[in-house]
Amino acid sequence: MNDLAHADAARAQVAAYLQQHETKDLLRFITCGSVDDGKSTLIGRLLHDTRLLLDDQLSALESDSKRHGTQNGEIDFALLVDGLAAEREQGITIDVAYRFFGTDKRKFIVADCPGHEQYTRNMATGASTADLAVVLVDARKGLLTQTRRHSYIVSLLGIRHVLLAVNKMDLVDYDEQVFDDICEGYRALAATLGIPQVTCIPVSALKGDNMLERSPAMAWYQGESLLQHLENVQVDRHRRALGLRMPVQWVCRPDQSFRGFAGSIVAGTVAPGDAVTVLPSGQRSHVARIVTGDGDLASAGAGQAVVLTLRDEIDASRGDVIAAAADAPEISDQFAAHLLWLGEQPLLPGRPYWLRIGTRTVGAQVTEIKHKVDVNTQEELAAKSLELNEVGYCNLYLDQPVPFEAYADNRQLGGFILIDRQTNATVAAGTLEFALRRAGNIHWQHLEVDKAARARIKHQVPRCLWFTGLSGAGKSTVANMVEKRLLAMGHHTYLLDGDNVRHGLNKDLGFTAEDRVENIRRVAEVAKLMVDAGLIVLVSFISPFRAERRMARELFANGEFLEVFVDTPLEVAEARDVKGLYAKARAGQLQNFTGIDSPYEVPEAADIVLETQRHEPGELAETLVAELLRPAR
Ligand code: ADX
Repeated sequence: MNDLAHADAARAQVAAYLQQHETKDLLRFITCGSVDDGKSTLIGRLLHDTRLLLDDQLSALESDSKRHGTQNGEIDFALLVDGLAAEREQGITIDVAYRFFGTDKRKFIVADCPGHEQYTRNMATGASTADLAVVLVDARKGLLTQTRRHSYIVSLLGIRHVLLAVNKMDLVDYDEQVFDDICEGYRALAATLGIPQVTCIPVSALKGDNMLERSPAMAWYQGESLLQHLENVQVDRHRRALGLRMPVQWVCRPDQSFRGFAGSIVAGTVAPGDAVTVLPSGQRSHVARIVTGDGDLASAGAGQAVVLTLRDEIDASRGDVIAAAADAPEISDQFAAHLLWLGEQPLLPGRPYWLRIGTRTVGAQVTEIKHKVDVNTQEELAAKSLELNEVGYCNLYLDQPVPFEAYADNRQLGGFILIDRQTNATVAAGTLEFALRRAGNIHWQHLEVDKAARARIKHQVPRCLWFTGLSGAGKSTVANMVEKRLLAMGHHTYLLDGDNVRHGLNKDLGFTAEDRVENIRRVAEVAKLMVDAGLIVLVSFISPFRAERRMARELFANGEFLEVFVDTPLEVAEARDVKGLYAKARAGQLQNFTGIDSPYEVPEAADIVLETQRHEPGELAETLVAELLRPAR
């Protein structure tokens, strides 16, 4: 062969290799354990020994090892993984790092998850897409609290395969009994957590025993090496075989003649001619074509991104799910769900959040926390809120029905995140367990007499005037005057005052953040009913949180709700101290007092601001009445 032919042959070989590589099966796994268990060493060795380490990474590593390494100038595999300098200095791994490697048989993506308790959320991030978890234990220490915690989260996030790597066998003289005892203990634990598939392998990540090949040091062990197991394990991604599910990412409509629905198939397969249903609307049609950048396909399956066209003109949009007609997911708007709280601020039941499931985003509230779960012991504890890294079992209410599946059956249609509506931060990862009520069992009852009719005989436009401000700001004083004036003019009104409502409807509520959220939720619903009755409603509550004032506003039609900020500085309200409560709060006899040890979030866009220092209450009331009765612009 001449040089050219050589080069061509080499190129063809490379192309063939890459092609083979591309079509190779992919296993996603996570590793759980701490640096002390040798986790970083284990991953480092896998990466290194599978020879997919880039050369430059390797040389950087060698010089790094001399500087920081703990293995006497030899390569310290832990450094491969503990990528960030900051982490190195702390000596812990603090974020999820994804690594890629491969062998002839498989490609791997490994999510490296930290072992420290406060980083549970990182672990959840890595676990939500993994097929298998490598749980590491130190043979000298056996099962620890963190082993239990990691395994619980693994089971919670639907990972059905655990590889228990009993590491540092070299430090227990490769003793079979030590290994057997740990395995027995772990199998019992896995059984209580409902993890169906457990494989235990004795290894020394540092020495390489049973890592790639079976080690002569442990002749008593006849099973697969760690890598062999990762290469060979068959993972069942779904608990049961599912029909087609494709959440619509966007509607592709380049011109009038073409209308396709683009998305990634998350389960099942599809072929032209298949009967499908579009959820939540339930419209039915048949698949006409499967379009891709490289032409039409005769079929497509899970993991593929495609554009589907349907035989009929069907109205579907982003967030809808195209599913096999004969085996479609259910739809519901109320669920039992597990939540792993990731927010810096605690979860508050009743507060509105965004929920994203598949490609759909809807409004959601946690209506009840059934219990929280101690991640270390799985003990169920009573809870009114969830803090960062806590797991809770909750009832969830959405503001519209969504297609869904239990998380155990389908991670894409059963897994969701909650998003804070003010900051847009992801505050929770969740798994749907089951629907509490099928959407549609409770119908809206149509009433013959409506709000307009009720308002008409009262000769008024129903409104909600929402007064917010500190205790002692003057809300009730002004609200009272406004109501008196309106009444004198012949209007039909009602004043809902915080102190009074807390004597009746809300007498079960105190002043914790959770209780205030519920306080406002209830009074907002009551105000809405009263507006529906045709009344002009005045609500005078501190209502310290923006999120709940916004929730209240969203219950009303445009222009019906007026947020009135009674703007009195804390010093002034405190100086007045009509009820003597500020004095008590300062003396420590009253907890959670607004402005003292509980926050007041000043309105950012109130409809009306009343400056009580510059005007008399009577003047402010006049202004408000005038504003209220001003004909609509
Ligand atoms: S809110 O924050 O939940 O909207 P709400 O307006 O119902 O409060 O009740 C506030 C009234 O309760 C105050 O005017 C005050 O008289 C009384 N109160 C008693 N304890 C507290 C407290 N810790 N914080 C604020 N107000 C309190």
